[in-house]
Amino acid sequence: MRRHILVTGAAGFIGSHLVDRLLATGDKVTAIDNLNSFYDPTLKRENIHAHLANKNYKLLEGDIRDPIAVAQAFAFGPFDAVVHLAAMAGVRPSLENPGLYMDVNINGTQRLLDCVCKEPETRFVFGSSSSVYGKRSTEEFLETDRVDQPLSPYAASKASAEMACYAAHHSYNLPVVALRFFTVYGPRQRPDLAIHKFCKRIAAGEPIDVYGDGSSKRDYTFINDIIDGIESAISYDCSGFNIINLGRSEPVILLDMIKTIEKYLKKTAKLNFKDPQLGDVPFTFANIEKARKLLGYKPSTSLDQGIRAFAEWYLNQPLRLKA
Ligand SMILES: NC(=O)c1ccc[n+]([C@@H]2O[C@H](COP(=O)([O-])OP(=O)(O)OC[C@H]3O[C@@H](n4cnc5c(N)ncnc54)[C@H](O)[C@@H]3O)[C@@H](O)[C@H]2O)c1
Repeated sequence: MRRHILVTGAAGFIGSHLVDRLLATGDKVTAIDNLNSFYDPTLKRENIHAHLANKNYKLLEGDIRDPIAVAQAFAFGPFDAVVHLAAMAGVRPSLENPGLYMDVNINGTQRLLDCVCKEPETRFVFGSSSSVYGKRSTEEFLETDRVDQPLSPYAASKASAEMACYAAHHSYNLPVVALRFFTVYGPRQRPDLAIHKFCKRIAAGEPIDVYGDGSSKRDYTFINDIIDGIESAISYDCSGFNIINLGRSEPVILLDMIKTIEKYLKKTAKLNFKDPQLGDVPFTFANIEKARKLLGYKPSTSLDQGIRAFAEWYLNQPLRLKA
């Protein structure tokens, strides 16, 4: 059956891949994005280029904090689901502009909840983040763990938005799935994120900054696996409030990730070691049992396969898009 989905942040990295998938399966998509300049909007326009030609796609260029823009988007409903991916993303930039992160990520989320609560048939799928777990050392991160010690304004904004979602669920019976994404990468990845940044500099023969001694670990998760998880979150039998980790559950050491990039770019990286950055966590590791059980989630892309796909995409990008 053809569904109608509202996707916020639909021109971004994850949002545009989700729209690819939804349109390919025949769903109707209403998209809202303000195409802001957090990174070059030309990249976002490129992400949505093919969507604009699809008769099942409608784009509203607007801000989720603007009640008029949000009401306009909801006027195109009703929706089977709202997938909320619009956000100011990124740990380090949030330290420079915490107020903006709080405003977009908390108030913007509340604007959407205000509207979706009036539509009893709609479910709310929220793009949360592993950053809510804060500083951890070895064990897997479980959805039931405490998340009250965020290390950055970004992490605090995501944990707060999860709570706003819970309040909307409790007060208005809204079905909510909050997905905690773990370091997502793949073609179209945001240019501020490590794999993209490193590829660009290594390909150009420039040194890369490595914060700490290179032993930090991340649970890198390939975009197609994340999209599988979001797809299931839209369609599984859900009536309550669920928080679900979407990761690969195989943390990789930073220096090993860099070696994999070197392998597929056929270049050697010049490493510039620096002090660890404020807000960064040493380690992320998703426990994905809940995702397996509820969503049938089964991440299948190894880091080697994923970096290979990213490097191929990056090397084939026209120069004007190598942000
Ligand atoms: N990429 C990751 O590794 C990762 C990890 C954890 C969580 N997340 C979350 O997933 C979501 C998508 O991340 P992404 O990497 O695709 O980021 P992205 O920056 O590529 O996409 C976000 C999109 O939201 C739009 N946007 C921002 N503020 C807006 C506003 N006020 N109104 C309307 N649109 C607005 C931007 O223009 C952008 O196109 C975000 O919520 C992010 O916090 C991402």
